[in-house]
Amino acid sequence: MRRKVLLLVVPAAVLALAAVLIALVARSGGGAGGDPGASAAALRGEAVFTEAGCAGCHTLAAASATGTAGPDLDITRPDRARIERQVRAGGRGMPAFAGRLSGEEIAAVAEYVAASTATGGSAPVAGAFRPDGTTVDGCGDDVACLEQAFGNVAFRQGPRAALTRMDEGIAEGGPIASDCHRISHSIGAGGLARFGGDVSKALAAGTATCWSGYYHGVLERAFAGVADDGLGEAARDLCAADDIRDDTFVTYQCVHGLGHGLMIRTGLDLPGALAACDGLRTDWDRSSCTGGVFMENLSSSYGTTSEWLREDDPLYPCQAVAERHKLYCYLMVTSRVLPSVGWDWAKAAGWCRRAERDWVATCFQSLGRDASGNSLRDAAKIHEHCAVAGAMEGECLYGAARDMVSNDAGGAGAQRMCSAAPGRWRARCFEGVGTVLGVLNESRAARRAACARWAPGHVAACRRGAGA
Ligand code: HEC
Repeated sequence: MRRKVLLLVVPAAVLALAAVLIALVARSGGGAGGDPGASAAALRGEAVFTEAGCAGCHTLAAASATGTAGPDLDITRPDRARIERQVRAGGRGMPAFAGRLSGEEIAAVAEYVAASTATGGSAPVAGAFRPDGTTVDGCGDDVACLEQAFGNVAFRQGPRAALTRMDEGIAEGGPIASDCHRISHSIGAGGLARFGGDVSKALAAGTATCWSGYYHGVLERAFAGVADDGLGEAARDLCAADDIRDDTFVTYQCVHGLGHGLMIRTGLDLPGALAACDGLRTDWDRSSCTGGVFMENLSSSYGTTSEWLREDDPLYPCQAVAERHKLYCYLMVTSRVLPSVGWDWAKAAGWCRRAERDWVATCFQSLGRDASGNSLRDAAKIHEHCAVAGAMEGECLYGAARDMVSNDAGGAGAQRMCSAAPGRWRARCFEGVGTVLGVLNESRAARRAACARWAPGHVAACRRGAGA
């Protein structure tokens, strides 16, 4: 299995996962919304939805609406109160309707949208995925079509089959390769629907191909239909099931995916999503969750731009968030910095030097992560990109080494890269290798053996990283 692990910072000490396993709380299903077509109010709501132009900007299957300027309401599935608020006040690209629609019309449209997307209650529910007859071969390069088609494969044949098929498409290049992250999100939706909304079964059946989009897809839909004030509690319960906790890798994907899901569900409400992460059970859960939050903030899966980004300051919001949230913010930050300076690595290094003093090194680790990711883990390119880091070159190589081991789920590529690095940074590079080997190998003996194997000549540095 190809494992693209984004285990960015996982101190070995916190990996002894809590043995306390909290079973996913058995939840009552909640009342189904009923047939939205049944009531006069709903008919009225449907008419408002069409006449007020909501359909031009939003996707809503019940209204055959396919707009893309705003969030896909079948995916975000906001509750009634949230819709009313949004329609009245608008904001961030959506006009306010308070003066244009009457209170009664706003109530009707909110009722209609809520009823057509939610199954009610605060339980995590199967996503809005609806299987149909769309097939991959019939899609050409129509991405929306491919999303549906791959979701269908996941729903009917299981997520593995869909992900394998997607991997073949990635290898061929073309539309599947360039949109694999969104496609894998919809494989997540189809997978979750296949397992009747059982998050842990769906997570266990996936793979991490294309930056773990499958896991994000499962988790983002797991929040659909959960009321705002229930998000923290839902987040706590979602990754607590035994069959998730039994596997460190799946646990990581779950809590990291939670961060993505929280951002998507809250419409990129960074403080709200971070607060929900803070409510998770362990330090490791909490920080892994913030990684998903910041990643989603930098590049939203649904193409909206976060208001928690600034054109003139690519380091923002890292300076502005609480100390406990800075680590993952800075570990991701160069993914924002690099495009903002036209992929000029020296300029990006200049931004890292302007980071808050305690976080300069972390920013350079992020630069190394991007050097690895961007070059598809090419050692020579990594050395070239990291050379701009000056005194921070070791941090850059450390970050690159971690990315390499994570993506290969093994040390071979990183070993070659670190061995060919400038002599004075080699130990630091192998320490980076060790941090991820420490995650991939649970026992102390296994960590020591992995370091002996993958860090010849620098076993001590590797073991320091691995906490062995
Ligand atoms: C001009 C395009 C546009 C129109 C017209 C429009 N919206 Fe929106 N809508 C958006 C955008 C963009 C957002 C995202 C705003 C944000 O990021 O905060 C949004 C957000 C929303 C949300 C919040 C989604 C969530 O889950 O958080 C709801 C609900 C919503 N719109 C409903 C409606 C309804 C109902 C109508 C018609 C009365 C409507 N919109 C008309 C563009 C539009």
